[in-house]
Amino acid sequence: MCGIVGCIGKGNAVPFLIQGLEKLEYRGYDSSGIAIYSNGKIRVVKKQGHLKVIKEILKDNNDFCAGLGIGHTRWATHGNPTDINAHPHVSACGKIALVHNGIIENYIELKEELMKKGFLFKSDTDTEVIVQLMSSLYEGDIFQTVKNSIKKLQGSFALGIICADNPDTLIAVKKDSPLIIGTSENENYIASDIPALLSKTDTICRLQEKQIALINSEGFKLYDFEGNLSEKKLTVINWSIDAAEKNQYEHFMLKEIMEQPRAIKDTVYPRIEGKSLKLDNLNLSKEYLENLNKICIVACGSAYHVGCIAKYFMELLIRKPVEIDLASEFRYRSPIVDENTLVIIISQSGETADSLAALRESKRLGARVISIVNVVGSSIASESDYVLYTHAGPEIAVATTKAYSTQLALMYILALHIGKALNKISDEKYESIIEALKNLPENIEKILEGKEEIMSIAKNYYYYEKVFFIGRNVDYAVCMEGSLKLKEISYIHSEAYAAGELKHGTISLIDKNTLVIAIATQEKLMDKMISNVREVKARGAKILFLTTEKYYEKLKPISDHIVSIPQTYETVLPSLSVIPMQLMSYYTAKFRGCDIDKPRNLAKSVTVE
Ligand code: M6R
Repeated sequence: MCGIVGCIGKGNAVPFLIQGLEKLEYRGYDSSGIAIYSNGKIRVVKKQGHLKVIKEILKDNNDFCAGLGIGHTRWATHGNPTDINAHPHVSACGKIALVHNGIIENYIELKEELMKKGFLFKSDTDTEVIVQLMSSLYEGDIFQTVKNSIKKLQGSFALGIICADNPDTLIAVKKDSPLIIGTSENENYIASDIPALLSKTDTICRLQEKQIALINSEGFKLYDFEGNLSEKKLTVINWSIDAAEKNQYEHFMLKEIMEQPRAIKDTVYPRIEGKSLKLDNLNLSKEYLENLNKICIVACGSAYHVGCIAKYFMELLIRKPVEIDLASEFRYRSPIVDENTLVIIISQSGETADSLAALRESKRLGARVISIVNVVGSSIASESDYVLYTHAGPEIAVATTKAYSTQLALMYILALHIGKALNKISDEKYESIIEALKNLPENIEKILEGKEEIMSIAKNYYYYEKVFFIGRNVDYAVCMEGSLKLKEISYIHSEAYAAGELKHGTISLIDKNTLVIAIATQEKLMDKMISNVREVKARGAKILFLTTEKYYEKLKPISDHIVSIPQTYETVLPSLSVIPMQLMSYYTAKFRGCDIDKPRNLAKSVTVE
């Protein structure tokens, strides 16, 4: 939810800190700040607002430079987004500065204890408690102080710490929030996520749970929270620097929408061999699969919507019950999960707090866990029994597009793999769906070529304040994603509704000021959808139909606008129908002048509950 960077080396750390924070602004952007060690002192610049405010302040400030520094971009949890609440926070003794990503759950008790000891607090944050706690325990050994302090903290914390008495050390701490070390010759770095490091290095080390790193310009050492030396594992990342740049695009979101054919190709093609699939790293025996009582898919936000679609096709292809849960609900509802339950966690970041907690709860109850994750080595990936990576590349825009599409494609592959192992799918169906998956990149290209048409439709409706997405079966699940995209970036109130459910109450909201986006791609439900659309049209709503080429002529007369997608194997159509929904949201938000890549109140990676 916040972005952390740090740097220690022989040169000036400040340019890296700024540029690293720029790459992490997707994690939070309501305030930012930098602390450096210079001339025996800690110096801090921090301000409310986007990072550009700090950049402007430091533009011609050649004096604000140092080899050691930390930086932060914030998504406020405790305390409003103000200059004072912005990180870094500095200890009362003036010697320790730190940045924090996470939440300290027992901060009120700690604050009261510290106040009794005479510590004064400037901010409303939970983070300032950590630094004052360190100040209260500091007797000249910063490593010991960090170890003693973190023992008293409850909650999640990734920390970057500098101490004026130890100008040769940058300290990093990780518990339940991500943190990565990047290494290069004569300079080392910390960051919350890989894109911040790409311009400097491709060699990283992910801190594992409850680890402390002592970093200097030559290298680093890892310790557990007790202070025992731990082994370090370096990984080389193959993401290009370009992957985290906007290039010719106005927004990351549009760039990422346009990258979907490539992302799906990279995710799907290596798992297809001739007419069948290969998922080498999945060791699920036929006996285990036969004994499964159910499959639980657990995720948040758009990843949950992928699960909503997957429930339909998995039950169809596997013939076992599939439950879908929001991770934040699953973890607190005493789920009926045991060793005969297969849990699938879907997450782009691999760090979403609720999804991670759901994973841990599932494992505690005895289930095996497969995760579908984009970020290699992330917490969810490392803690799962099996991980299937989506190869979307770094996704920067807060609104997910290419990660969603690759997750969905991978869920088809997983469903086919299990269905085939259980002999529940005919060869013909199996091969046809594989063929449809192979054709996805080409079919998505065709839809993207028509993006101007969707832009002109958006121009007609961008000022509407009420939009309903209606559909049945998988189309309804695609509606959920379409509606979330629109809400998230254009701030229009919209709802996704199962078309058959409208007349049980919600249709009373439909009037001439409503846009209804109706998704109708399935043959057996076409006539039902036509009736539902006639019902809302009769109440004055404007209709945008999304259908396949096959039904274009049939649906045109009852639409105000119609968009068609290529016909493919029906089960796989959601992978195509979501694309116009993404474009519609993008252009609507653009016409409304919204901050598309950084929508208000949001952060990309939700690492707090
Ligand atoms: O990183 P995750 O896939 O676990 O994130 C889950 C949701 O926070 C995420 O999909 C969110 O809903 C997106 N911003 C929607 O565009």
